[in-house]
Amino acid sequence: MLDLLMKRRSCRKFQQKTVETDKIEKILLSAQLSPSGKNACPWEFITIEDKETLQKLGDCRKPNQPFLPQAPLAIAVLCNTEKSDTWIEDGSIASAIMQLEAESLGLGSCWVQIRLRESNQGKSSEEYVRELLGVPKHMAILNIIAVGYPEERLPAHTLNEIKTERVHKEIY
Ligand SMILES: Cc1cc2nc3c(=O)[nH]c(=O)nc-3n(C[C@H](O)[C@H](O)[C@H](O)COP(=O)(O)O)c2cc1C
Repeated sequence: MLDLLMKRRSCRKFQQKTVETDKIEKILLSAQLSPSGKNACPWEFITIEDKETLQKLGDCRKPNQPFLPQAPLAIAVLCNTEKSDTWIEDGSIASAIMQLEAESLGLGSCWVQIRLRESNQGKSSEEYVRELLGVPKHMAILNIIAVGYPEERLPAHTLNEIKTERVHKEIY
């Protein structure tokens, strides 16, 4: 697990290679095996592979996220805010687990923040994505995870980045 965590870096350059259906299914399965507050499982996911939609998704943020249209796959992470008061935590955990599963399958991924961000079109990122993907009002849109085979890999994390002063023993 630690090896995987060291190796995983955000990927913003993807090969033009389709992600196999079984790998997409494994990523979605990993998300749904995530822990959630009171086991409410408030998340839902939209997979996007349509080139035209991916192109439009690039404008979900200001400045735009040019790697999103280049990714062969994007997964929008939605959370039912009426189901749980820990939906942000639940959706974030599911997102991180999908990124780790993607890494374990030889794929790269990058989190694109939607909640609290602005789109290139003046409206909020959430409103922009909601209209584009037809997401109902009770589902918050937390992020979009871009996924694909890496064209370029950032160097793995090193133990030099680890700061022991962040960890306290017994009291702060
Ligand atoms: C909550 C959150 C929001 C992020 N938002 C974006 C984003 O909008 N665009 C982007 O390119 N990367 C985004 N990232 C990726 C971070 O920039 C990246 O994880 C961080 O720089 C550490 O690099 P690493 O993932 O390679 O370890 C986000 C990551 C998190 C956890």
